[in-house]
Amino acid sequence: MNMDKIVSLAKRRGFAYPGSEIYGGFANSYTYGPYGVELKKNIKDLWWKTFVQDRPDVVGIDGDIILHPKTWKASGHLDNFNDQMVDCKKCKTRVRADELIEEQCKIECEGLSNEDVKKLMQENNVTCPKCGAVDWTDVRQFNLMFSTQMAKTGEDDTAYLRPETAQAIFLEFKNIVNTMRVKLPFGIAQIGKAFRNEITPGNFIFRRLEFEQMEIEYFIFEDSWEKLFDQWLRDMKSWCELIGLKKVHEREHAKEKLSHYSKRTVDLEFDFPFGRKELYGLAYRTDFDLGQHETHSKKELRIHDEASGKKILPHVLEPTWGVDRTVLALLCDAYDEEKVEDGERVVLHLAPIIAPVKVAVMPLMKKDGMGEKAQEIFDLVKVFGNCELDDGGSIGKRYRRQDEIGTPVCVTVDYDTMGKSVETRHGVSLQDTVTIRDRDTMKQERVKIGELVEKLRKSFFDK
Ligand code: GAP
Repeated sequence: MNMDKIVSLAKRRGFAYPGSEIYGGFANSYTYGPYGVELKKNIKDLWWKTFVQDRPDVVGIDGDIILHPKTWKASGHLDNFNDQMVDCKKCKTRVRADELIEEQCKIECEGLSNEDVKKLMQENNVTCPKCGAVDWTDVRQFNLMFSTQMAKTGEDDTAYLRPETAQAIFLEFKNIVNTMRVKLPFGIAQIGKAFRNEITPGNFIFRRLEFEQMEIEYFIFEDSWEKLFDQWLRDMKSWCELIGLKKVHEREHAKEKLSHYSKRTVDLEFDFPFGRKELYGLAYRTDFDLGQHETHSKKELRIHDEASGKKILPHVLEPTWGVDRTVLALLCDAYDEEKVEDGERVVLHLAPIIAPVKVAVMPLMKKDGMGEKAQEIFDLVKVFGNCELDDGGSIGKRYRRQDEIGTPVCVTVDYDTMGKSVETRHGVSLQDTVTIRDRDTMKQERVKIGELVEKLRKSFFDK
């Protein structure tokens, strides 16, 4: 399995198309197609249900993409959210210096100064990945935030598209405390877009300029951080199991390589076709963010602690999930090519809970009442979520298409269903029965229409 196959399936089957394609494509942008958007919605809805609605200790918000510019000074993003970049003087290719050194020399550069990185490039004769030259500009810091201009008049009108959803949560911390009767430990969750001016985006939807995050800031008493960190790690791994993700590994960040706000970070990494890479992260951000916002806004963000009678600044754990990387990991994990009787099939073994189409209903033909019967069955099975009425082409081709988009089960309406066949099963008429076909085993079974919903629930959707 390689990325080309995933990218090709994604386009062929309407998961994701290259963005702005009619203008020749644009900066690694992608448009999620009808199945991609369903898959993404399933991920986000399930995440919201699991971590917000099903938990008494987490509430949600939906903050703005453009926040007060002072936010980013306080959070450290204006000063620290940089990549080290160099340009090839010969072909003008711009790359991340640290990534290039890691790739070509297997040396990690995190924490090194611009001068040290340049020295490493010279000593190791690091070549341009595009033209092969060794002719680099100086290493420079490149801030990853997208900036924009506000229309208002006044001193500095520069604003930024948020590079993480987290900061809106910190800005609303006091409002939540004052209005929601929350008590430590408690979390505030948000799903939304984040923007990063990545120098080298790539690997399909793995590294994008705009992407979606699902984040929780979980506010705690300082002395409980270790216990709750372990608990969150377990919860994050349970989430992977829930959506059917295998090949997930923990990676502890070395102390000297932690982000500017973190005292401990563990990534959950996934074995993508291009290597083991970060999928999700869990960080102990201490009281860094609330402290910074308190200093910069000059507003008190402390809360009253009943036990000690004092005002305290809560500490925070931050579990964070990328939606786009979840989509990619699911596609890679679920993708399979299998030998079947009449050749080979491509199939996505997606967990039913996450599959973009839950049930495909297929009339053998549209005539003789089968089309209308299929519509009736569609109306029954749509309780499971997004379903499809698939009535074009041979049944075999329709099964293959549904296999490729990961539909867990197909229901077929035929002449037996309509009572227009002499076929019987053990002498009993097959009228008002349908065939259900399991995507994974490809086994078919005859089921009474009256028992269909219960059967599908038991065999696929309640498992
Ligand atoms: N608030 C913490 C934070 O933003 P991060 O590790 O930089 O931490 C969190 O990002 C998650 O967002 C990552 O684990 C990843 O899933 C996703 N992510 C980060 N950068 C991305 C990009 N350029 N394209 C797609 N997803 C990205």
